[in-house]
Amino acid sequence: MNVPFIDVKSQNAQLMRQSLAGLKKVMQAGDFILGAEVKGFEQDFAAFCNGKFALGVNSGTDALFLSLLSLGIGPGDEVICPVYTYIATALSISYTGAKPVFVDIDPRTYNLDPTKIEKKINQKTKAIIAVHLYGQPANMPEIMRIAKAHKLKVIEDAAQAHAAAIKNKKNQWQKVGVIGDIGCFSFYPTKNLGGCGDGGLILTNDKRIYEKLHMLRDQGRKGKNRYLHFLIGYNSRLDSLQAVILREKLKLLEIWNAARRKSAQLYSQLLKDCSQITIPWEMENYKHVFHIYPVLLKNRNQAQKNLAAKNIGTGIVYHRPLHLQAAYKSLGHKKNDFPIAESVSERVLCLPMHSNLNNQQVEYVVASLKQAI
Ligand SMILES: Cc1ncc(COP(=O)(O)O)c(C=O)c1O
Repeated sequence: MNVPFIDVKSQNAQLMRQSLAGLKKVMQAGDFILGAEVKGFEQDFAAFCNGKFALGVNSGTDALFLSLLSLGIGPGDEVICPVYTYIATALSISYTGAKPVFVDIDPRTYNLDPTKIEKKINQKTKAIIAVHLYGQPANMPEIMRIAKAHKLKVIEDAAQAHAAAIKNKKNQWQKVGVIGDIGCFSFYPTKNLGGCGDGGLILTNDKRIYEKLHMLRDQGRKGKNRYLHFLIGYNSRLDSLQAVILREKLKLLEIWNAARRKSAQLYSQLLKDCSQITIPWEMENYKHVFHIYPVLLKNRNQAQKNLAAKNIGTGIVYHRPLHLQAAYKSLGHKKNDFPIAESVSERVLCLPMHSNLNNQQVEYVVASLKQAI
């Protein structure tokens, strides 16, 4: 049996006819830049998340970068983020000239540990970026409480967590991306909602932030006149062809996420009695969308090799936390500064996970993993 780690092709195959028809329409109309399809997708995505305003941009990285700029963050400022995330979270802070300030993670969820945030807050701190890592929402109620107490803005990095949700006080599910001040998404092809190329989106309920972001993503333009520019903006637009594909895929996202959750449940059920393996922990009243199914184990490199010999693809996401990356050497961190992130990064192994995985494949992966260790 062959079990790929990810599968970016099957979802496209499922929607080929509709997507090609939509692409043809855009090509015939020549409506490529910020066209009707982009607007339509923005409206669909905002409605899907129960948010007010959505803006398509060219990547998740730019979604974060422009969001920080829209909050006026720049040189001399500090922004708190988890030390264990994809590097784009921190890069977006660095692009503005501000300093990323790392915080260690919760050993059970691998998300930002709220109990460690306040020690890092000072006069220069302007915002917190909460990452919903692997598809599990970060502890937003706690993060929002801390942010409010210190008058900080909160940006949600939901690049890995489309349609993940938290139950609010009224016992209703609230999707990530509209809990903080701004929510950022990536449509990189491997994501739960992935395009056929790069793409990203920003969500906010704040009209002023939305209007600023509108200019920031489109070279400072506002209004109908193409050649009037009101601030130093960027060329960071989602293109219409990607919007066509994403609009079609959005209709099936909940079904695809349910398939991921079902596979995750089966993995966890089959692995729960295996003392050498730590399975993911889903917080109560949190909806994990399993962008990734990570397990922790000793000798994961050997286990990965053994699984590869059985045609099972796995990933190590991430083998090096941000404070130990050469790119962030100038921050002066050293080993043992963030012990939980280091320990997770040394033991994490991500098992095959995508919406097209079947039970036989999950059972084969688990049997092979048990053998491998
Ligand atoms: C947590 C996180 N943040 C940000 C990004 C950046 O998104 P993109 O690759 O679309 O720029 C990613 C994508 O890999 C991510 O996983």
